[in-house]
Amino acid sequence: MANILKISRIGHPVLREIAKEVDPELIGTPDFQRFLVEMVETMREYNGVGLAAPQVHVPLQVAVLEVKTYNERYGKTEEIVPLTFMINPQLAGTSGGQVLDWEGCLSVPGLRGEVPRWERITVKYLDREGSPQTLEAEGFHARVIQHEWDHLQGMVYLDRMKDMRSLSFNEEFSRYQL
Ligand code: NI
Repeated sequence: MANILKISRIGHPVLREIAKEVDPELIGTPDFQRFLVEMVETMREYNGVGLAAPQVHVPLQVAVLEVKTYNERYGKTEEIVPLTFMINPQLAGTSGGQVLDWEGCLSVPGLRGEVPRWERITVKYLDREGSPQTLEAEGFHARVIQHEWDHLQGMVYLDRMKDMRSLSFNEEFSRYQL
């Protein structure tokens, strides 16, 4: 069983630092590989769709993503975003204009708001083996990547909101926005 890591919340300075690049030589070490597993287990424990290392008090350029949803009609779990490990990610391109949709964040518990994000992006990163990858993503997948990438720049989704009036507690969102 992997360790569940403690989540940092806004106000903690680690969320406002620019995370440091990972030395590619470190990626294959047992300590780093264990840290990746702990990040995945922590993301799953708290039902996150992504998690960036600063959110577990580690100021390194590492993020994990995974989105699964249970499809009642087919009675099975579908993978919307496969489990992805992004080390030293760089946004290499954006297109399609910006679209508004709801986001929440484990570091801003209980709240959500409407955030503009690029419809399509290209991101380059090192995977868990340290191999370079280029990924094109769109829609919700692109949104999750941009949200996690922001964390590595010391930003949270609140900084991206153009109109704070959509900010809602989850209970009020369920009552009035759904
Ligand atoms: Ni977040």
